[in-house]
Amino acid sequence: MGFNICFRVFFVIVVVNWKMNQLRETLSDYYSHISDYIRELSLVICPPYPYLDQCSKLTNQYNSRGISSLYLGAQNVGHQSSGAYTGEISAAMLKDFGVSYSLVGHMERRTIFQENTLIIKQKIICLQHAGIIPILCFGDDPTSDPLTTNTKAITETIKNTLDGLDKPSSIILAYEPGWAIGGDETPPREVLEEIFFSVRSTMTATLGQDMSRHVPLLYGGGVRENNIHRLLPCRELDGFLCGGVSLKSKTLSALLNKIVTHGSTQTKVFSPVKSG
Ligand code: 13P
Repeated sequence: MGFNICFRVFFVIVVVNWKMNQLRETLSDYYSHISDYIRELSLVICPPYPYLDQCSKLTNQYNSRGISSLYLGAQNVGHQSSGAYTGEISAAMLKDFGVSYSLVGHMERRTIFQENTLIIKQKIICLQHAGIIPILCFGDDPTSDPLTTNTKAITETIKNTLDGLDKPSSIILAYEPGWAIGGDETPPREVLEEIFFSVRSTMTATLGQDMSRHVPLLYGGGVRENNIHRLLPCRELDGFLCGGVSLKSKTLSALLNKIVTHGSTQTKVFSPVKSG
């Protein structure tokens, strides 16, 4: 009887979600302050829609200087490819602005805008057709108890979302417990590891082992400079989805610095994801 050895590919990806923040005049300075750190990890910046054009130009500017691990992301996408959907933005439009990644199913979209699994699935399909990598967010709702994470409900949601989709050529998953978003507390390492292991095995059952081991798993919710050292050693964790800490380039730089410093002492192989 032989052993079936499965190697997993590790990533360090930081996704920055500005939500409904920032103004045009701050963007250029912001990029220049963080550029020192983005040679060592993959950084995806998700600005509000009106700033995609300017951020796309800044991304190209840094890429042309050899910083090829900076990417443009979107915070959301329309659930149809085109048509009479007032106020919506299609995946093709995002692609037109050089968007490589898009968040989908963020807790704020699920709770404030009542997005359900069907809508989220349709958004993933639109993104895949446009060649944009979906970052599927999932997690306990904001009223849940921080100490009793419902792993079963979480894995069910992922299974229902991925089931029936064409095998995604590339997808990222981001666990964000609702209670942690906007605060500065994060779940204990054992809780995160339990969730990530369960999510990985759900993905293996849904997508197959080969695909599943290439899917990066991110953590988001309360990620700050003063707690990142507790998160980094977490097994199965490939990166972070950051909100509040990313609103100022100074606090984001401090966080990236810690990730880069700590990351260089880890055995993880840095293997950035390229857009399709
Ligand atoms: P915070 O980092 O402010 O908790 O926000 C997390 C988040 O929702 C990122 O998408």
